[in-house]
Amino acid sequence: MKRVITYGTFDLLHYGHINLLRRAKALGDYLIVVISTDEFNWNEKHKKCYFPYEQRKALVEAIRYVDLVIPEESWGQKRSDMHEYHIDTFVMGDDWKGRFDFLKEEGVEVVYLPRTPEISSSQIKQDLYDANAVTDGSRVNHDEIDTDPK
Ligand code: CTP
Repeated sequence: MKRVITYGTFDLLHYGHINLLRRAKALGDYLIVVISTDEFNWNEKHKKCYFPYEQRKALVEAIRYVDLVIPEESWGQKRSDMHEYHIDTFVMGDDWKGRFDFLKEEGVEVVYLPRTPEISSSQIKQDLYDANAVTDGSRVNHDEIDTDPK
């Protein structure tokens, strides 16, 4: 059985994530997804997640391509994960191209898949923020609408 592993935050799950996971699973038989914990995201990546770890984990576990979800708590765990989980292939999107080539030293194949264009969790957050920003006087202030029927 060929075992594949990939890492990420997977906040605000979107079709770019699904595309990545589908192609990762197609490289083998068993797919492990390692999801950054909230602490790791904040302390090391300086990113605040919208969904907490347990909810991101539950969402990714519900995807048919995914066989196992485990937490990512440090940068250093990748090397040991390769042995602990008997990994054949390590996969990431090509925004990380070259960054994990050192894992070849652990005897695994390292694959970077092309990212799906024009979608990311950060972009979703930014687009929603922009769409809700008050840019002129035409935005409705719901606090001021009298909903009392009397
Ligand atoms: N990914 C992808 N295509 C996208 C977005 C993400 O292939 N459009 C891949 C990433 O390359 C990574 C995995 O999905 O291998 C998880 O990425 P993650 O960083 O969690 O998602 P992003 O949407 O890129 O989140 P952020 O904007 O916070 O970086």
